[in-house]
Order: sequence, then structure tokens, then C-alpha cells
Amino acid sequence: MEDNNSSPGSPKENPDQENEAGKVTKDDGSLENMVRRIQDSMSIGKRHKFWETQPVGQFKDIGDSSLSDGPIEPPTPLSEIKQEPYNLPNSYEWTTCDMDSEETCLEVYNLLKNNYVEDDENLFRFNYSKEFLGWALRPPGYYPSWHIGVRAKASKKLVAFISGVPARIRARNDVVKMAEINFLCVHKKLRSKRLAPVMIKEVTRRVHLENIFQAAYTAGVVLPTPITTCQYWHRSLNPKKLIDVGFSRLGARMTMSRTIKLYKLPDSPATPGFRKMELRDVPAVTRLLRNYLSQFVVAPDFDETDVEHWLLPKESVVDSFLVESPETHEVTDFCSFYTLPSSILGNQTYSTLKAAYSYYNVSTKTPLLQLMNDALIVAKQRDFDVFNALDVMENESFLKELKFGPGDGQLHYYLYNYRIRDALKPSELGLVLL
Ligand SMILES: CC(C)(COP(=O)(O)OP(=O)(O)OC[C@H]1O[C@@H](n2cnc3c(N)ncnc32)[C@H](O)[C@@H]1OP(=O)(O)O)[C@@H](O)C(=O)NCCC(=O)NCCS
Repeated sequence: MEDNNSSPGSPKENPDQENEAGKVTKDDGSLENMVRRIQDSMSIGKRHKFWETQPVGQFKDIGDSSLSDGPIEPPTPLSEIKQEPYNLPNSYEWTTCDMDSEETCLEVYNLLKNNYVEDDENLFRFNYSKEFLGWALRPPGYYPSWHIGVRAKASKKLVAFISGVPARIRARNDVVKMAEINFLCVHKKLRSKRLAPVMIKEVTRRVHLENIFQAAYTAGVVLPTPITTCQYWHRSLNPKKLIDVGFSRLGARMTMSRTIKLYKLPDSPATPGFRKMELRDVPAVTRLLRNYLSQFVVAPDFDETDVEHWLLPKESVVDSFLVESPETHEVTDFCSFYTLPSSILGNQTYSTLKAAYSYYNVSTKTPLLQLMNDALIVAKQRDFDVFNALDVMENESFLKELKFGPGDGQLHYYLYNYRIRDALKPSELGLVLL
């Protein structure tokens, strides 16, 4: 199994034997073959007609120590920013998607539900809920003009989408106003017509108009040039369903009942003082999180307004818990996950895979392993089928022990118009994008 888009994906098998197309290859071990395999896996040999023209780290610059970290090109003066939108093919037109409108939100939801990211075997497709999209696209200070759609002129049908939201992101000591770009989607019937580069240029133009010149984004595909490459890990909560729908397979020498027993969790969290985060906790959680994130090379610079938006629990969107010391009432630990179901394509019994995605976690008193075990327990209580986590921040310290298995795809992180000379280890990254 191979899953280039990473997330609706599934646990990996025989990782050494599969190439990009998921075909099994024979490795003769020659130097030539090794070089080709490395180039293939990084797609360094490939031309990128669009990305080669953009202010992003280029493959040819890898290892060039004369280049320094920071913006690649200076801000464009307002007078030099194109005032009109880029041209679209004649039968299409730009639309700004008003996410306050139930009707428009539903159109975006349906476009993504039917056309957004699938795993390589086309078993699953992300199904971000309308509530999730409303949350993800309207953080503090958001720009409505960054919610960009394309419609067919004749039918007015929404056929493509791209979005940005503002964020302050710190790279080493530099806090930079950026756009977080997400939900790039082109209708299946309009693929491979070079519409994506036009969408990307248009969102860039509208970001520039707000005097912002950097962006952060992730993709399952390799583009010039990742600041880091992460892996998803999956922790089964409902192993029978995951096996029934083809998300995971029964291990060698395992029966269903042994598998169910292996993944069984206690009914309730173990840590005294573990409870849901509330509005009154925003200042304490902000302090905890700011202090924790300061150790990573790239991380968001959250203030209380950001924490209230991104981390205060929101039904079926984001869950957050903390540990309040029963003695001192001090908030010492925090964990969170967001809700991102996937549609199960073509299964008679099940239509939805309910997945929780690890978001931001901070431990100062409760060991991270115990904190995350409690997160698994409350996710199970809430009927999630699987708990996913990237190998970012300190997550590696609990993944294996808490019975997460490695996924078969990778998630690459990118910055636009900001060079990070040496790629980071996933553990140096303190940023989770939705
Ligand atoms: C991603 C998607 C919009 C690309 O559209 P497309 O029709 O396949 O590709 P186009 O012909 O329009 O454009 C190709 C260019 O876009 C780039 N591109 C493709 N996917 C990209 C991505 N996820 N992020 C940034 N650039 C991307 C390609 O690298 C290529 O540029 P290059 O020649 O410089 O390499 C489309 O495949 C899609 O909607 N897929 C499902 C949803 C998805 O995967 N979204 C991205 C989530 S990260």
C-alpha cells in the first residue's frame, strides 16, 4: 500500500519493496540503482515547470551554504502587485466563497467531499465537515478574500477551491506573518489542465495585497523543497472496523479476538485532574503552549485569541483536555485532537471512518506517554475508530509504546518565500496544519 497524500491512508506493509506506484521492485543493490531510488523517492530528477518559477527553495540549492535563512525575495511594493485576478480558461470565473453563508459553505463542503484527497488505493477520501471548514477558514483576523473558488460560467457550479488564513509563524528567532494555504482542490474532471498553478498564483496575489509575503503549506507530493518530511502513525481504537474496511490488516499470527484485546483501553482516563479545557483556561493554556513551542525551530506564535479559536473545544471539530493539579489547581499538561472523518469508498457496511488527529500536546508534570494514553481513552469514549499522529514535536517518544503503527505515506511541509537552509528533523517542527 502506498499513500502519497498521507492522511486518509493506512498502515504500511513491506515498506522497502514498494516504489511510488506501489509496485514491488527488485533492488539489485548497485550504486546506480540506489541513486535512482533516492532520486525517485525525492522526485529530484523531475522538472517542476511552475514551482521552478516561484520563490521557494529549489532542489539545485540543496546543500548550498552561501544561502542564508530568511525571505527569498523582498516584499513586492503595492504598486507592483497585479490589481486584477489572473486569467482563467474562458468558461470559468473566480468567486469569493462567503463562509458565513450556509449555502456557500455547503458548496465548498460538497466539492471537497467528492474531490479532495484520497489514499493511493482510492479506499478513503477526506470528509472535512461543514463545521470544521467554518472553523478552519475563519480564525481571528481572517480575510474573506482568501477563500477563493472557481465556478463554471454557464452552470455556476463550484469546480475548484483554494484558501489561506493568516498566522504568525516563528522560524528560528524570526516571527513572520504568513498565510497558511489549505484545501487546494480541483474537480476530478478538470485535472491536469494546469489550473492548480493559476489558483496558487491567485491566492498569492491576494495574500500580497494584504502585505503578507510568506506562506506555510503541506502536501503529500514532493515539491521544491520540503522544510521537513513527516510520517503519519495510526493507533487503532476500533480494530475490527479498520480491518473490515481495509484500513488495516490482521497481523501475522493474529486472530481478531487477540487484535481486539491488544488495542483495548481503560474506560476512563487515569490522570487525576484530567478534564476538558474551558474558556477560563485560555490564559493558562496559552502560557503552557507558548513556553512549550519555543523549543521548536518552526512553530506558530499563538496568543490568547489564537488559543481560544484553535484550541477551545468545539463539538465534532476540536477536543482539548488538560490536567489541573488537584492540590494547587495549576494547569500542568494539555492535549488536543481534531476531528477529520474520511468517506469509505464502496463499502457495503460502513460509509465513514471516524479519525482523530493529534494536534498540540504539552506535558510538564504528567509523563507525555500517560497524557497521550488518556487522549486515546477519551477519543475511544467519543467513538473514534482511529487516532492519527505525525512524528512531529516529541511524538516519537510515545508512538511505538502506545501501539501506533507507521502509515504508508509522507506529509511534506513547505514555506513559500522563506528559506530554511538545512531541512529539519520532524521532531524540530512544532507546527500542525489541518
Ligand atoms: C492537487 C490538485 C489541485 C492539483 O491539480 P491537477 O489538476 O492535478 O494539477 P495541474 O495540472 O492543475 O497543476 C500541476 C502543477 O501543480 C502542482 N501541484 C500538484 N499538487 C500540488 C499540491 N498539493 N500543492 C502544490 N502544488 C501542487 C504540480 O506540482 C504541478 O506543478 P509543477 O509542474 O511545477 O510540478 C488536484 O490534483 C486535486 O484536487 N487533488 C485532490 C486534492 C489534493 O490532493 N489537494 C492537495 C492537498 S495538499
